[in-house]
Amino acid sequence: MRTRMRRIGVLTGGGDCPGLNAVIRAVTKAAIHHYGLEVIGIKDGFGGLINGNVCRLDEGGVSGILHRGGTILGTTNRDNPFHYLLRDNGEERYVDLSYLVLENIDMLGLDALVVIGGDGSMRIAMELYNRGAPIVGIPKTIDNDLMATDITFGFDTALHTATEAIDKLHTTAESHHRAMIVEVMGRNSGWIALEAGIAGGGDVILIPEIPFTIDGVCAKLLQRHDAGKSFSIIVVAEGAPHPQLGVIEKNCGNGRKVLGGIGELVGSEIESYTGIETRVTVLGHLQRGGAPSPFDRILSTRFGVKAVEMAVNGEFGKMACLRTPEIKAVPLEEAVAEQRKVPPDGELVRYARSVGTSFGD
Ligand code: F6P
Repeated sequence: MRTRMRRIGVLTGGGDCPGLNAVIRAVTKAAIHHYGLEVIGIKDGFGGLINGNVCRLDEGGVSGILHRGGTILGTTNRDNPFHYLLRDNGEERYVDLSYLVLENIDMLGLDALVVIGGDGSMRIAMELYNRGAPIVGIPKTIDNDLMATDITFGFDTALHTATEAIDKLHTTAESHHRAMIVEVMGRNSGWIALEAGIAGGGDVILIPEIPFTIDGVCAKLLQRHDAGKSFSIIVVAEGAPHPQLGVIEKNCGNGRKVLGGIGELVGSEIESYTGIETRVTVLGHLQRGGAPSPFDRILSTRFGVKAVEMAVNGEFGKMACLRTPEIKAVPLEEAVAEQRKVPPDGELVRYARSVGTSFGD
């Protein structure tokens, strides 16, 4: 197909997730095959547009990456051009370098820039679009917390990883008559915990959207014990606030804090209140790695092709999204307006309760 557009850029921003490479491949192949465009890969998120760290992408370069986790372009969740940490002679200060991004988009001759990212990257993309950058967004994140799309790619793979882990923990829990806690990712939304908990037959699911109490969790475990069930599985989202201490974080150097630790805390409280031997497994970044599931490969491919189509049609300032059964375009503003949370009274929670799952409340 003929188009006035000549060159398109693509970058991956924020935390990685399975399916990023599948999107990069789809964008590159669709752009070259279908529209005869040149494709420029931006390295390490928006940072690559500040430092001019880019590469040419051709069919050979994206061959064999469909099934690979991670991103061949690299990514970071630090280089926000509007709030960029500059280190100068041992001093640190935040500066606005968005003008450099806009200049580099011009200098590279990019007629469109495809930004693949979560809510943080989409916010940056929207700001850049408001300053004139020809941006198209694609939603990613294992947390599935973007409201504008039915589902983000990466979530399904993370769900498989977490469910498989719960299946494995089941057998050892049963052998040792223990309570097993598995802490999964999910900063503000409990989708991974909820769905992996249901799929894996978790007895207790703790998510940020439903406040829990230790008494509530222990009551369920003791009830199971009294009914002759000698083991229990508790799935907890890392962002589920402790009833007294709130959201649990740990220091990871450089003054940065990351979520994590709620599993250990709940585990030791369960053990001391009930006497049930308890072990804790934190899945962490295992959920972000590995080969994307077939569902994620297909969704990534659909998003990638749609984004190129949107760029060619001049539909800038929008994000591709899944509105089942179709892939649509929504304004970035809409995409970042609200986070997608688990509805506490929604169908999934109600049905989980119906089969005896406790939310610790
Ligand atoms: O937003 C995705 C996510 O995986 C969260 O679930 C998690 O809290 C966070 O990223 C971890 O980020 P980092 O890789 O920077 O530790």
